Amino acid sequence: MTPIRDISRVAVVGAGIMGSGIAQLAATAGYDVALCDAAPQQLERAREGISASIEKLVGKGRLAAERGDQALSRLRLCTTLDDAAADADLVVEAVVEALQVKQAVLAEAAAAAKPDAVLATNTSQLSITSIASAVGDGATRVVGLHFFNPAVLMRLVEVVRGLQTSDDVVVAACRFATSLGKETVVCRKDSPGFLTSRISAIVRLECLRMLEEGVGTAEDIDRALRLGLNFPIGPLELGDRNGLDTYLRVLESLSETLGERFRPTVGLRNLVAAGRLGRKSGRGIYEYGDDGEIQSPSRS
Ligand SMILES: NC(=O)c1ccc[n+]([C@@H]2O[C@H](COP(=O)([O-])OP(=O)(O)OC[C@H]3O[C@@H](n4cnc5c(N)ncnc54)[C@H](O)[C@@H]3O)[C@@H](O)[C@H]2O)c1
Repeated sequence: MTPIRDISRVAVVGAGIMGSGIAQLAATAGYDVALCDAAPQQLERAREGISASIEKLVGKGRLAAERGDQALSRLRLCTTLDDAAADADLVVEAVVEALQVKQAVLAEAAAAAKPDAVLATNTSQLSITSIASAVGDGATRVVGLHFFNPAVLMRLVEVVRGLQTSDDVVVAACRFATSLGKETVVCRKDSPGFLTSRISAIVRLECLRMLEEGVGTAEDIDRALRLGLNFPIGPLELGDRNGLDTYLRVLESLSETLGERFRPTVGLRNLVAAGRLGRKSGRGIYEYGDDGEIQSPSRS
């Protein structure tokens, strides 16, 4: 039987949309969690977001108030990766979707964490094997742990095996995800976009092409896919939620690895260049109010 590693201390690197959700999940499940970010204002934002999310879950009766308080007390915010990853059994990186940044973060994490710590990346589509190349012999401990947005609510975690990932690390990653109340699938081959992002990227890209060709409004394209094709949320709205800057990076990378069909549209590049990154910046394909709800289509 493959040994299963013990995990009790978790470090999450990157306190953006995904890192804050993953930290909240892990703290709620009973892990000691250290969350760090290079930008101090992101840490403050994450603290507020996590508190508000826990309060909402408690209010809806989906989380006992006592468990919510305990989760917050298990969460430590850190300004340096060294501090966050010290003695961690598992490090989950959720920094910007850029290979070199992720490689640097994993190399630093490998030096700070326990020598046998699992080193996980929340990349949406980058090669786990390439990210792992930054940690030399430690590559056997690197695994993809791909959460979905919003991490607290989405049911799936996709576990991705790199070329050198050891069996016990894949098992530990699955067990960790299960302990957070998630279902898992294992992407057995390190292939760009794994089992999920490859599909969602191409569907959203086709929606963007239709929008830019003037075939329909953003609202109607999203409504068509929700009501006619049974998508739970329109792909354009989801793109705004996930962050158009992240989506652009995903497409740039997938077009390099999987080919021309993933080439980003000019319209998407323009939105990102204009700082219209989606819900997190108050404006993307749609416009958002202070409550984070769509106000009106913001097409120009
Ligand atoms: N947004 C999504 O829907 C989604 C879904 C699944 C996976 N992902 C993946 O998760 C990762 C993070 O995405 P996100 O949407 O949370 O991005 P984000 O832009 O919301 O957050 C990224 C955070 O990383 C921080 N950061 C950047 N470099 C850093 C470094 N060297 N050290 C510490 N912190 C650093 C930034 O300050 C920022 O707070 C990406 O790899 C993305 O592809 C995103």
